[in-house]
Amino acid sequence: MINLDNRLKQCAEFVSGKGCAADVGTDHAYLAVHLITSGICKKVIACDLREGPLQIAKEHIHNEGLDGTIQTVLSDGLDNISPDGISDIIIAGMGGELIARIISRAEWVKKNKVNLILQPMTKASDLRKFLFENGFKIKREKAVKSEPFIYSVINAQYSEASVTYEDYEIYTGGLDFNSKLDREYLNIQANRLIIAGKGMLKSANKSENTISNGKEKIRLGNIILNRLKEVRKD
Ligand SMILES: C[S@@+](CC[C@H](N)C(=O)[O-])C[C@H]1O[C@@H](n2cnc3c(N)ncnc32)[C@H](O)[C@@H]1O
Repeated sequence: MINLDNRLKQCAEFVSGKGCAADVGTDHAYLAVHLITSGICKKVIACDLREGPLQIAKEHIHNEGLDGTIQTVLSDGLDNISPDGISDIIIAGMGGELIARIISRAEWVKKNKVNLILQPMTKASDLRKFLFENGFKIKREKAVKSEPFIYSVINAQYSEASVTYEDYEIYTGGLDFNSKLDREYLNIQANRLIIAGKGMLKSANKSENTISNGKEKIRLGNIILNRLKEVRKD
């Protein structure tokens, strides 16, 4: 029995289990196995870009006696995944830009309004921007601590209605300004923005572009800090 880390536990909580779930970049297949053994899903496709991790996934799935319910597929993103019956896609433990690229290459994700569970390790703001600009609504989002870091898990779905957003929301997404851990994550994001902005303003040989980018980062960071103060819970 594997003890899933908080990132993957939260991913599992956002899975609808209405049909088959695809775990993209499954690596060890811990999440895929958990989705079946916990009863969340009846069928899972565990896929990975590389043979090595997929082999480990296969062994693990076999040892758990789940060959009949978890199919393994060698695939770059969703390229080799058939859309039929897929209700959920989980893409966890990759950079935000790569996650966005994987989604953008599979138009059926929009058409079938697949439930997306996305856990970026870096560049979460780039991923949220991609989602907003491509008509995906962030339904839910939660910060999770996997010591020593805090990550965000995003639950998104394509929306027929156009998605509007404020510029600072690419850093805040669907996080809850009232929740303790979400606030901790938001505070880190805000301070990172301000530090990066100040760094840009201080840099030698700065261009007009650098100055305006630096000021913008500081402005957005302060908007988030002010919102955190408005709904102070500490
Ligand atoms: C850091 S592991 C994350 C494993 C697991 N999803 C988690 O969150 O703990 C990233 C995995 O994604 C796989 N990967 C990277 N790029 C991929 C792509 N384009 N398509 C499918 N899998 C990919 C890697 O081979 C690796 O096994």
